Amino acid sequence: MKILSVVGARPQFVKLAPVAAECARRGVEHVIVHTGQHYDPVLSDVFFADLGIPDPDVHLGVGSGSHGAQTGAILAAMDAVLEEHAPDWVLVYGDTNSTLAGALSAVKLHVPVAHLEAGLRSFNRRMPEEHNRVLTDHAADLCLAPTQVAVDHLADEGLAGRAVLVGDVMIDVLHRVRDELADVPAVLAELGQQEGAFSVATVHRAENTDDPERLRAVVEALQQVDHPVVLLAHPRLRARAAEQGLDLDGGSLTVRDPLPYPSLVGAVTAARGVITDSGGLQKEAFALRTPCTTVRTETEWVETVQLGWNVLVEPGPGLRDAASRPAPLPTGATPYGDGHAAAAVLTALGA
Ligand code: UD1
Repeated sequence: MKILSVVGARPQFVKLAPVAAECARRGVEHVIVHTGQHYDPVLSDVFFADLGIPDPDVHLGVGSGSHGAQTGAILAAMDAVLEEHAPDWVLVYGDTNSTLAGALSAVKLHVPVAHLEAGLRSFNRRMPEEHNRVLTDHAADLCLAPTQVAVDHLADEGLAGRAVLVGDVMIDVLHRVRDELADVPAVLAELGQQEGAFSVATVHRAENTDDPERLRAVVEALQQVDHPVVLLAHPRLRARAAEQGLDLDGGSLTVRDPLPYPSLVGAVTAARGVITDSGGLQKEAFALRTPCTTVRTETEWVETVQLGWNVLVEPGPGLRDAASRPAPLPTGATPYGDGHAAAAVLTALGA
């Protein structure tokens, strides 16, 4: 059995870690293709090193570009890779341009393709992630769903026959990192913060960063929060803020580079809150029981909201006030599985 994983962006490296480990455990041949969508070391190399992921076998080096250019460059490069490696399965992860291109390439060459994190929907057709996940689900031979809600969405779209509920591989890696690698005192010292007294923020979605008025409203609200906020700035955010002449530092807000994954887990564990537009961070905050404030009009991770640990807000006073709310009642719910999703993935692939 040979599985070929296509990854390209930060959250996919996190999800790749438990899959790569499970392949090694079962003696399954695993070819890793890095598209190069994320190329800054803080968004890429550091994840491979920290999470013990083998170096990519193939690096496409596509870099940044418009959606069409980036997706097209990956698609054009994948034919030769799939012909050379002839895998039994192509595995694509999540909702990025790398995912869509990897899936499309496999389908056209008649290589079976499985989509990990299938069935998520925001129903916001303006988000590139929504196009990518809908198109990838419909191209895939196997839709590996992280939640029952995702399975239900697949069924609504006529894909029940290809859907398998496997849980969320991000929980697998989160449990391991929390128990073995996260060093809370070290990350508090690095950030210059006190346990339980600060929030961690990330903002990178195009719908927040690329509209100057909206970005200004997000930043101003973060600066007005009644406790310190550490903003871990994605390169997209820094680039758009610079273009718009917007100073991110100020008021409650301190700007830092993105953290390596174990430090991020340590920071979220120690924080009083998370403020984000990232999908992964909403779940990680929930799993670590840190209240989350999400700067979006909808979320794919509805369980976090239903269980009271996440609220959706618009930029402005709503964001500022939600960031200061008290923690909700404790819950023992595990909507994202028990931390053994990678094993379920390999079993679903017949490995
Ligand atoms: C991508 C994914 C998004 C995912 C996110 C995680 C798509 C459509 N979006 O968004 O689903 O949540 O990754 O981070 O695939 N840049 C750098 N260095 C890098 C990478 C990007 O400077 O290593 C800058 C470039 O200016 C680039 C911009 O960030 O144009 C956006 O990068 P891109 O890969 O297009 O999307 P992300 O916003 O990172």
